[in-house]
Amino acid sequence: MSEPRHFQSAAGAADGSAPVADPCLLVIFGASGDLTKRLLMPAFYNLVCDGLLSENFAIIGLAMDPMTTESFREKMSTDIKQFSTRATFEQKPWDSLCSRLYYTPGKFDDDAAFARLKELLSQLEAQYKTGGKVLFYMATPPAVFGLISDKLEKAGLNDSATGWKRIIVEKPFGTDLNSALALNQEILRYWREEQVYRIDHYLGKETVQNIIAFRFSNGMFEPLWNRNFIDNIQFTVAESVGVEGRGGYYDKSGVLRDMLQNHMFQMLAYLCMEPPGSFAPESVRNEKAKVLESIRMMDADDVRRDTVRGQYGPGVGPDGKPCPGYREEPSVPPDSKTETFAAMRVHIDNWRWHGVPIYLRSGKRLWKRGTEIIVQFKSAPDVLFRGTGVDSLEANRLIFHIQPDQGIELQFQAKTPGPTMSLQKVNMRFNYGDAFTASRGTGYEVLTYNCMNGDATLFSRTDLVETAWRIVQPMIDLWKTDPVAFPDYPAGSWGPKASFDLVERDGRKWFAVLTPDTLQKVPLFAEADPILLHSLIMALRPIVFRPGDTVMQKGEIGHSLFVISRGEVEVLGDDGKVVAKLGDGAFFGEAALLTSAPRNATVRAIADTDCFQLEKSDFTRVLRDRPQFMKSVMNIAATRYNVSVAPESILGEMAAEAGKG
Ligand code: BG6
Repeated sequence: MSEPRHFQSAAGAADGSAPVADPCLLVIFGASGDLTKRLLMPAFYNLVCDGLLSENFAIIGLAMDPMTTESFREKMSTDIKQFSTRATFEQKPWDSLCSRLYYTPGKFDDDAAFARLKELLSQLEAQYKTGGKVLFYMATPPAVFGLISDKLEKAGLNDSATGWKRIIVEKPFGTDLNSALALNQEILRYWREEQVYRIDHYLGKETVQNIIAFRFSNGMFEPLWNRNFIDNIQFTVAESVGVEGRGGYYDKSGVLRDMLQNHMFQMLAYLCMEPPGSFAPESVRNEKAKVLESIRMMDADDVRRDTVRGQYGPGVGPDGKPCPGYREEPSVPPDSKTETFAAMRVHIDNWRWHGVPIYLRSGKRLWKRGTEIIVQFKSAPDVLFRGTGVDSLEANRLIFHIQPDQGIELQFQAKTPGPTMSLQKVNMRFNYGDAFTASRGTGYEVLTYNCMNGDATLFSRTDLVETAWRIVQPMIDLWKTDPVAFPDYPAGSWGPKASFDLVERDGRKWFAVLTPDTLQKVPLFAEADPILLHSLIMALRPIVFRPGDTVMQKGEIGHSLFVISRGEVEVLGDDGKVVAKLGDGAFFGEAALLTSAPRNATVRAIADTDCFQLEKSDFTRVLRDRPQFMKSVMNIAATRYNVSVAPESILGEMAAEAGKG
C-alpha cells in the first residue's frame, strides 16, 4: 500500500470528498504569538493530516522576534506537541508541514522588513508554484492592521492582478460603533470587501455550523420556527475560567464586547435568520444582516430594564479551591467597573419573531463551562390533564449543546409506567461522539480552508459588524455612566441574581443544563443510580438568592424542595431566633412536602446561595420510584423536625391525587 500523501495535487483530497484548498502562500503577521502556536499551527496540521492542503502551499511567519526559519521550525515543532488536537500525534505529516515553514523577522513599520518579505514571497512562489496567490493573516492587535496594509501596498504586495490577495483579521473589530466604523474605513482603504475575511471563531465550530444544517435539512422543525410555536429562546455561554492572565485586555473590553456583540450575535443570527436563497456566501450573509437589523434598538430605559451586568468577586473555582475576585486579578484595577457577566433580552421586530423574547447571557468564572441554545416551545393546553395528578404541562424544548458537550436534545414528557396518569420529563438526544468519528479540531481548519477557497460564508462582513455594534452601543453608553455595585456574584456561582430576575419578570426561567457530575457533588444525590440522576436532571431547576433573601416563609404552602449547591442559609425558629444553619449540599423544605402541612420554618439566605429547586410533583414521583431515596429524606426530616410520615401515606396521597380525575 502506498503512503498517504499529506499535501495533495489539485486533483482532489485523499478520500475524494472535499476539494484540496487553492494553492497559496500564507503570511502570518505576529507569528511568534499565542494564536499561531495554539490554534493556527494545530489547524494547518489537521488540514495536512486530512489531505486538504495543496502541495503548492507554504507558510511565512513574520514577527519582531529575532528568529530564523530554523529556530521557527524548532519552536513550532515543540509547540505542536502541546497544542495538537489529534488523538495521536503523527510525525510524518508534521514533518512535511514543518518543511514548508519559513520565517522573516521584522517590525510592522519597517519598510526593509516588507522588502525582505517581498523577496521571500517571490522566491517561494517560484519554488511552490502558488500562482501569486497570497493570504495575509493579521494575528496582531487591530491597531496595526492599517499600518501593515499600508506597508503591503507600498511594497506592491496587495496587487490582485498577479493572483488573489486576501487578508484574515481577528477580533476585536473595534471597541464601539465609532471605532468599528473607523477600523472598517481603514481596512477598506486598502482592500476590497471581498478580500477581507473577519474571523469569528464561533463560526468555525461544527455545532454552530450545524445550526443551519439542522434547520434547513430537516422538514419537521422549520414550520414550527416562529412566534406561533416558540415561546422564547435562550443563549447561554458560561465559562468557568477567569480572565486567564488577560486582565489588561479584558478590563478594556468586558463580556459585552468580548462575547455578546460577536460570538453570541453570530449564533443568534444563524438560529433566527430567514432561509437564504442558496448557500452562496452573500446569500447567507444577507440573511444574517437582515435579522440583526431587525433587532429592536434600545434607549436608556430599555437598557435599564432589559439588560444586566455583573462582576465576579472572590469565590471557589471548579477544583474546589478558593479563587480571587475579578478586581484582584493581575492587571485589573482594584476599582474596575468592567463587567464579567452580561445578560440581555432582545426583540426581533419581524414577522417571524415578533413577541418572542430572546435572552442572552454570558459570564466568566461561572459554575461550569457550557454553551447551550434553548428553543422553548409554547406549552400544550393542560385541559385534558386537569384532575389527574399532573400539575402543569412542561413546555417542549429543543436544546443545541454547542460545547463542551456536543449534541442536540429534544425534551418532552412521557407517561410514567403504572396504573395512573402521571408524567415525567424525558428526552431524545443525539451526541456527536456517537454518530461521527471526526477528530476534534480547533475551528480554524474550516475557516482558513474556506478562506483559501474564497468562500466567505463563515466570515463576518462590514455591515454585520457595524449592526452588531449599533445594537450594543446604548448599553456601552449607559454602562459608562450608571453606577454599579460590583462585585455581585461569587466566582464559581450561577451568576448575578439580577439575571434571574430579568427572565422571571416575564414569568419565565433560565433553563440550565445540568450534568450528572454536578449533581453527584450533592450528598443527597451521591448514591443516585443513572436513571434517578437522569430524572433529577430533567426535573431540577436552578434558583439563586442574595444574602438576606427569604427562601421560604413559615406558614406558606410548600411547593418545592431546595438543595443548596453552594452558599448558606439560616433556619429561623418561632421566636425569630436562628435554630440552624445549612451549607453546601444540604437540603430543606421537605417537611411541608411530606406532610402537606404549611411550612414549619422560615429560611433565609445569609450568603450568595445557589439552589436546585425540585417541585412537589417531581419530588413525590422520585420518592415513589426510589424507596432508598425516600428513606434517607424521611430519616433526615424525622430527626430535624420530629416529622414522621409513613411511606404509605405519601404513596396514598399521590394515588388520591392521581385518582381525583
Ligand atoms: C474569545 C474571548 O473570543 O472567546 C475569550 O476573547 C473567551 O475571552 C473565548 O474565553 C471563548 O471561546 P470558546 O471557544 O472557549 O468558547
